[in-house]
Amino acid sequence: MKTAITRLLGIEHPIVQGGMQWVARAELVAAVSNAGALGVLTALTQPTPEALAKEIARVRSMTDRPFAVNLTMLPTLKPVPYEAYRDVIIDSGVKIVETAGNNPVGHMPAFKAAGIKVIHKCTTPRHARKAEQIGVDAVSIDGFECAGHVGEDDIPGLILIPATVAQVGIPVIASGGFGDARGLVAALALGAEGINMGTRFMCTRESPVHDNIKQTIVANTEADTILILRSLRNSSRVARTSLARSVVEMEQAGLGIAEIGPKVAGGKGRRVYEEGDVEEGIWTVGMVQGLIDDVPTCEALVARIMSQAENLVRERLLALVDR
Ligand SMILES: Cc1cc2nc3c(=O)[nH]c(=O)nc-3n(C[C@H](O)[C@H](O)[C@H](O)COP(=O)(O)O)c2cc1C
Repeated sequence: MKTAITRLLGIEHPIVQGGMQWVARAELVAAVSNAGALGVLTALTQPTPEALAKEIARVRSMTDRPFAVNLTMLPTLKPVPYEAYRDVIIDSGVKIVETAGNNPVGHMPAFKAAGIKVIHKCTTPRHARKAEQIGVDAVSIDGFECAGHVGEDDIPGLILIPATVAQVGIPVIASGGFGDARGLVAALALGAEGINMGTRFMCTRESPVHDNIKQTIVANTEADTILILRSLRNSSRVARTSLARSVVEMEQAGLGIAEIGPKVAGGKGRRVYEEGDVEEGIWTVGMVQGLIDDVPTCEALVARIMSQAENLVRERLLALVDR
């Protein structure tokens, strides 16, 4: 399946792996890219820009296919040296960047001067239009189903994707709730040029998270997520654990970042992924976990999605019109 996204990014299949804090490390990124999709390394998983340079080199040692680096610019408790991370991305010769969390306008001249293709991920058509105006090459639009930062408007993909496609001229990648061939075909029908998947790629063999997390995703249903931090206008979809429920109760009781901050600290979330105690910290997952029931290799996953998508189009959809 060749689309505007496969052509723009030089990839075989119209599938992108979303940047994932603590998860999108070199092993997963290289496995996704080797499967013919786009692996995306998460810059801020690395503690310093120098460590990012080493991680980019590790990806290169495992794949010669295109891959990207995600730069997420969300409010943080500690200031992040974004320019230094950006310069490492450029100096390392990376050719595709996924930005998220904030308008990347300040970084665009440097990325464009380096010939980098920029995909901006956002959650509203308004932000997608803005991103197009500042010169990004494609947008990923994350629906209310998605893992992580859902935005504050709560518009599901079924509406958000065609609404965004109608409002921008650049290619749109559909994100949030995608995990299989049915989702890919639906996204294409809605006018997107490809899909972005986070949760589905987190639940693969090459994903570096603890097996308990993968088995929990397999066991969980679509109802097992919860939105936290709405009261701070920083809404995030995470696993519905007792810790996450207690955060929502604190928000309902009117407590603020000073009290809630320690509960949602990134370091605790990181330990969940590494040690597999699903109640230890807040961890990110999307509603699509309800459709996930195995832990395949990235190669098997991407191959399965592409072959089933082709069958869906040929056998189910064509049969509807080709009488
Ligand atoms: C564990 C995890 C960590 C994530 N971390 C980030 C991140 O650091 N930056 C970012 O832009 N998106 C992040 N995301 C969101 C994904 O890139 C993607 O937009 C989202 O997972 C799509 O929804 P899906 O999980 O339904 O596929 C994360 C998602 C997961 C599951």
